[in-house]
Amino acid sequence: MKITAIFSKKPFKNADVCAVGYFEGERPLPKELAAKKFDGKCGSELLLSSRNASAGFTLAIGLGRRDKFTLERIRRAAAKLVSQGQRLKAQTLGMDLDSFRGKFSASQIASAAVEGARLSDYRFNRYKSKPGSSHEIASLVLFSDSGASSASVRSAVREAEIVSEAVCFTRDLANEPANVMTPRRLSAAAREMARKNGLSCRVLGLREIKNLKMGGMIGVSQGSAEEPQFIILENRPARPRFKDPIVLVGKGITFDTGGISIKPSNDMDKMKFDMCGAAAVIGAMKAIANLKLSVKVVGLTPVCENMPGSRAQRPGDIITCLNGKTVEVLNTDAEGRLILADALEYAKKFKPKALVDAATLTGACAATFADLAIGLMGTDPELVGRIKEAGEQTGERCWELPLWDEYRPLIKATYADIQNISKKYAGTITAGMFLKEFAEHTKTWAHLDIAGTAWNEGAPKLLSPIGATGVGVRLFVQLVKSYLE
Ligand code: BES
Ligand code: MN
Ligand code: ZN
Repeated sequence: MKITAIFSKKPFKNADVCAVGYFEGERPLPKELAAKKFDGKCGSELLLSSRNASAGFTLAIGLGRRDKFTLERIRRAAAKLVSQGQRLKAQTLGMDLDSFRGKFSASQIASAAVEGARLSDYRFNRYKSKPGSSHEIASLVLFSDSGASSASVRSAVREAEIVSEAVCFTRDLANEPANVMTPRRLSAAAREMARKNGLSCRVLGLREIKNLKMGGMIGVSQGSAEEPQFIILENRPARPRFKDPIVLVGKGITFDTGGISIKPSNDMDKMKFDMCGAAAVIGAMKAIANLKLSVKVVGLTPVCENMPGSRAQRPGDIITCLNGKTVEVLNTDAEGRLILADALEYAKKFKPKALVDAATLTGACAATFADLAIGLMGTDPELVGRIKEAGEQTGERCWELPLWDEYRPLIKATYADIQNISKKYAGTITAGMFLKEFAEHTKTWAHLDIAGTAWNEGAPKLLSPIGATGVGVRLFVQLVKSYLE
């Protein structure tokens, strides 16, 4: 599907399906819409065939009340257009940008439309012998006659294409089964991505991980036949706007069996998605490079497989992490925080201006928010505010949880400095408290628990089929962009 923007006083009439937005309770609706009781309520849609048989369909999309309007509603409108287009086997789709005008500029509308179309059009079909009966739409035309600056809209379209492509790349990495996407395969994919997109990439293998004394990475990977990998990606612009980098860290457990504290078999297959944080960091780095953002950004992804092999760590084992702190591993299934501990300490040498990690860290976070919010915790209100704002803009909403000192006793260990599970409750917060201990070198640190949002199961959604959602990519890119404003 090719996406183009056209600007003309003459209405665009060549679409097989053309989307028009209507706000609730405004301007008298065309008669056919009113007759069919279409009222512009958010989420409503109505497909009208034109009287002239040669012309296409109009898809009226309810946008809800103007004062409640969001970019996410535009993304969803574009997704609905694409899905109707698939169903009707359309060749050309049209979207009337001017009907979405109000709060947002033509560029913002176009950008949201591209994201909605691209994210809803994604499929992971590599392993289907017969690709199925999917229909290929030839083009989507975004049109406007409002005198919007065509150059700025076209560049918004290009940028949204770059970001959407990165999200789909992240989905591809994360949807691969764990027998394919091993730590080595993930580092090879990151290397290849870096080479193609002008990023620098270094990968530490087992020897270097041992030499550095990354006790968390060693402990988690020792029960697996797969060698751990530590991936370091860097965006180094010629003229960075400021000196210190933003450092992004992503949990990369290519499969989480739980280790000796083994998980029940129901739904264990979903634990191939336990590298979604790492995949989001790798995808965000790709977008940041292609957008040529003049910000230094470092992406760090510790990658291991958590298996119960004969060399596996045992409950009660004590490990020493990269920063010298000792951890009592009371539950080998709380492994993400162990590898993140090493990665957060490793970030210190870059003197981060901001340090942000993303991880499918706790089932408790999914239990709290379902797939409606990312759990957000952090030590700096300014950074937390930026992330919340980026979440609103991208539709990857974040909700803050507290990291009060009073939670600290819950992870105080009997035999070591700290233990890797809570004594009681507060599963998501105590995981955040654990990470905080390893991020103390940077005043501006935040943690994103994406356990509920990283993949979609059960039923397809408008912006994501079943499988990895690529959550975090757009949030990270928006966060980095916010430092350029
Ligand atoms: N990767 C899981 C968290 C997870 C579970 C994410 C289910 C999404 C869905 C993580 O490594 C884990 O197992 N966490 C444990 C921690 C517990 C042992 C303290 C959990 O949440 O049960
Ligand atoms: Mn686990
Ligand atoms: Zn895990």
